[in-house]
Amino acid sequence: FSLKPYNTFGVDAKARYFAEVHSTEELIEALNYSKTSTLPLLFLGGGSNMLLTKDFDGLAIQLNLKGIHEEFVSDNEVLVTAKAGENWHEFVMFCLNKNYGGLENLSLIPGNVGTSPMQNIGAYGTEIKDTFVSCTVLNLENLQLETFNLEQCRFGYRDSVFKQEGKGKYVILEVTFKLTRKDHKIKTEYGAITSELENLGIKNPTIQDISKAVINIRKSKLPDPKEIGNAGSFFKNPTILLTQFEELQQKFENIPGYTNGDFVKVPAGWLIEQCGWKGKQIENVASHKLQALVIINATGKATGQEIYDFSTKIIDSVKEKFGIELEREVNII
Ligand code: EPU
Repeated sequence: FSLKPYNTFGVDAKARYFAEVHSTEELIEALNYSKTSTLPLLFLGGGSNMLLTKDFDGLAIQLNLKGIHEEFVSDNEVLVTAKAGENWHEFVMFCLNKNYGGLENLSLIPGNVGTSPMQNIGAYGTEIKDTFVSCTVLNLENLQLETFNLEQCRFGYRDSVFKQEGKGKYVILEVTFKLTRKDHKIKTEYGAITSELENLGIKNPTIQDISKAVINIRKSKLPDPKEIGNAGSFFKNPTILLTQFEELQQKFENIPGYTNGDFVKVPAGWLIEQCGWKGKQIENVASHKLQALVIINATGKATGQEIYDFSTKIIDSVKEKFGIELEREVNII
C-alpha cells in the first residue's frame, strides 16, 4: 500500500497493511487486529512532520476522526475541542470565522490537530501551549482513554512528553484549546508580521488580519507541500551557550541569535545558508531557495533515504563550519 499521499514529502514508501479509522472504536478494532498478529504500528496524521526512509513492514493507521465541539466558559472564553483528524489550518479558519482568538498566528501550518501537541507547533510568536488546555489520548498498552493537561504535556520548543518518555505509547484523539471571544490578545512582536501589516496598510489589526499577514508571509517563503514535497523546517533552531555564541561572533560578525539567559537560539536557516546550501540541489533533493531550513523533494521522485542523506550532509557541514550540531525536527521512520 503506497503511503505517498499520506506524507507531505510525497515519498513513495509502502506499508504492508493500511487502515483508515473514523472513531475511537474503529481505532481499537484495528489495534486489536494488530495485537493478535503482533504487527508494528505507524500512526498517520497529516504526514507533515515525518520522513519515511524505507517501506514499513507493519500496519499504518490513518487517523481520520473528525468533529469540533465548543463550550462557552465565560463572556470572554470558549473551550474548543477538535478531533485528531481535523486539518489544522481548517480548524484555525473555523475559529477565526467564529471570531475566536488565540490561534491566528498559527495559520497555514500543515498537518492535523492530533499531531499539533506532539511537537508543540509554533510560529510567529505563538506556540500551541499558549492556548492548550488538554488532550484525550488512547493508551496503547491497556487501550484506556487518558487525559493530559498542560503541565503533563511538558511542552518545550518543538517538544512534548509525546516525543520523550511518552513516545510510541499514546495516540492523541482530540485536543482542547481555550480561546478568547472578544478581548483578543493581538501578537505582533514577530518583526515579519509588523512589516506585512504595514504592507497591507493595516493599523489596528484584528485576529483575522493577523491570520492574513501570517498566511502572506508563509506563502512568500515556504513551499506548499501540495506543489513541492516538504515537511516545513527540517531541523530545529539550535540552542547554544552564550559563551560559545560570543566566540562565534568573533569569527562571524553577523551571526543572528536570540539570547535567553545563558543560552542563545540561532536560526538554523542562517547557518545552513552560510554553508552554501540554500537553493542547492543534489539529484532529487534540494534546500529551498527561499528558506534554507526547508528540505524539498525537488523532482517529486526523491526516496526517503536520499532526503535523509542530504540532511546528513547539511548537518556535517554546519558542524564543520560552526561547531554546532543540528538536530532533525522531522520524525525519521
Ligand atoms: N535565515 C537565513 N536564511 C534562511 C532562512 C532564515 O539567514 O534561508 C535567518 C534570517 O536571519 C531570519 C532568521 O533566520 O531572520 C529567522 O528566519 P524565519 O523568520 O524564517 O524563522 P526560522 O527561525 O527559520 C522558525 C520556525 C518555523 C516558523 C518560523 C516563524 C523552527 C525550526 N522553525 O523558522 O517553523 O514558521 O520560525 O515563526 O523553529 C516549522 O516548524 O515547520 C516551521 C516552518
